[in-house]
Amino acid sequence: MTRVLDGNAIGDRIREDLRGCVETLADADVRPGLATVLISEDPASATYVSMKQDACEDLGIESFHHELDTDAPAQRLYDRIDELNDDPSVHGILVQMPVPDHVDDRTVLERVAPEKDVDGFHPENVGRLVAGNARYKPATPHGIQKLLAAADVDTEGKDAVVVGRSDIVGKPMANLLIQKDEGGNATVTVCHSRTKDLSEKTRGADVLIAAAGVPEMIDGSMLSEGVAVVDVGVNRVDADTEKGYELVGDVEFESAREKASVITPVPGGVGPMTITMLLYNTVKAASRRSGVEVDLP
Ligand code: GUN
Repeated sequence: MTRVLDGNAIGDRIREDLRGCVETLADADVRPGLATVLISEDPASATYVSMKQDACEDLGIESFHHELDTDAPAQRLYDRIDELNDDPSVHGILVQMPVPDHVDDRTVLERVAPEKDVDGFHPENVGRLVAGNARYKPATPHGIQKLLAAADVDTEGKDAVVVGRSDIVGKPMANLLIQKDEGGNATVTVCHSRTKDLSEKTRGADVLIAAAGVPEMIDGSMLSEGVAVVDVGVNRVDADTEKGYELVGDVEFESAREKASVITPVPGGVGPMTITMLLYNTVKAASRRSGVEVDLP
């Protein structure tokens, strides 16, 4: 029997524990605050940011939203980040990626104060993660670790294959999976657009993380029996629906589920976990800065 993992339910359980942390902070007059910054006209990015804001408010985290015109000068964004770095009510800052071409994304990531970098994208935080001493684990790969743990998928000694090498998912996922730590200890292969014979690699996977952003590129014929499949892809493809599109993952769900022991759906798998772990990092940031200890889930 294949288990289809419910990211909403697993995420909700973690959020309930985080609610307790927010209450502990409130008892000490600390209210976590997250600033989101959007400089994009992409409707998907706007949707993600508004979901993040709603999730904050639901948990009692203060949310500050900053929207800049897509063609605003890059310096205006950098100045805004500086202001947020200096604002004591803001514990975490998230600049929604991707930013427009005229903005240098490396400058953006380096501009956010490392202590407020709840995405974990600042080079200092990337370095700490690689060194096994993470301050903030990036939300999507951290959420995937929590999903696998909730499904009793032990990664220790397993062959994990990560398809995709983005800075947001693929690279940090591979790094977390090789750590000598809970949710790690795997033997990791990272595949990407230049990989020769992708199927040969994916068939060797006990745990497969699909994060390439290519609709349904992994199908059941590329998988071995019993694999745990995590689908990070959220791809809009044209469809005869009210919105004119539907969301599909990087995995062709029906054929993959015939091989998998566990599999995440799209939507409702990884997405809710990403938001949950962003809340986690924001609570952690508030706890670290205030010195009020909380029992993070
Ligand atoms: N764009 C896609 N995923 C993310 C994320 O986790 N954080 C930010 N800042 N931008 C993203």
